[in-house]
Amino acid sequence: MSNVIQNNIPVIAIDGPSASGKGTVAQLAASRLGFHYLDSGALYRIVAWATQQRNIAWDDAIAVTECAKTLIIEFINEQVFLNNTDISNEIRTEAIGKGASQVAVHAPLRAALLDMQHGFCRAPGLVADGRDMGTVVFPNAELKIFLTAKTETRAQRRYQQLLAKNQVSLDFSNTYGSILQDLLERDARDKNRASAPLTLADDAILLETDNLSISAAVDNVLYNFQQKISK
Ligand code: C5P
Repeated sequence: MSNVIQNNIPVIAIDGPSASGKGTVAQLAASRLGFHYLDSGALYRIVAWATQQRNIAWDDAIAVTECAKTLIIEFINEQVFLNNTDISNEIRTEAIGKGASQVAVHAPLRAALLDMQHGFCRAPGLVADGRDMGTVVFPNAELKIFLTAKTETRAQRRYQQLLAKNQVSLDFSNTYGSILQDLLERDARDKNRASAPLTLADDAILLETDNLSISAAVDNVLYNFQQKISK
């Protein structure tokens, strides 16, 4: 992480499992600090979507990686563009989330996405969220947070998110079970893969959000950041 050390640019790494709230917390923390924001999960989602469009199997590590290297990805405000096309909605489905966790197991793909992720580290600072921000991508981050919540809490949150986007039926009992099942599978894949598995970095602060509001979680991140930089 030479760029972090050389440029002295502060990084806050926020890792955690799916639907732990880390995206919302990271975005709000970035905006309060006036920092850049990296949603690293979006990169894996874009690769899953682009490979699906090209009929490339998600388990084909080489073809997936080669495809990823050709993609021109841009984040403009809260929109995601691939080769000049806005695919913000397309990548937010459950199916693409599942695909993202399947392409994310490939070490060559993860290596190919490293430079792009490092490129987000620009003055005055960066808040990055994902699974390996504090362990692999920005191991020298000023502050590392591991945000988590019980699986049931996360499944309920995911259901509400999908409902707001009209991607699930109103029949809670029908869809909650499959969302919970998907989360359990995704957690298992993210934690057990050989390359950059989801894990709590030794120097990360664990933040459980079951009974914590979003604003309290953001305040906690900012408080810990101030503590770190005032040392
Ligand atoms: O965070 P999000 O749900 O958008 O991430 C989608 C998938 O991308 C995750 O389930 C995970 O497998 C993968 N991912 C990853 N490393 C990251 C961010 C996301 O492997 N830094």
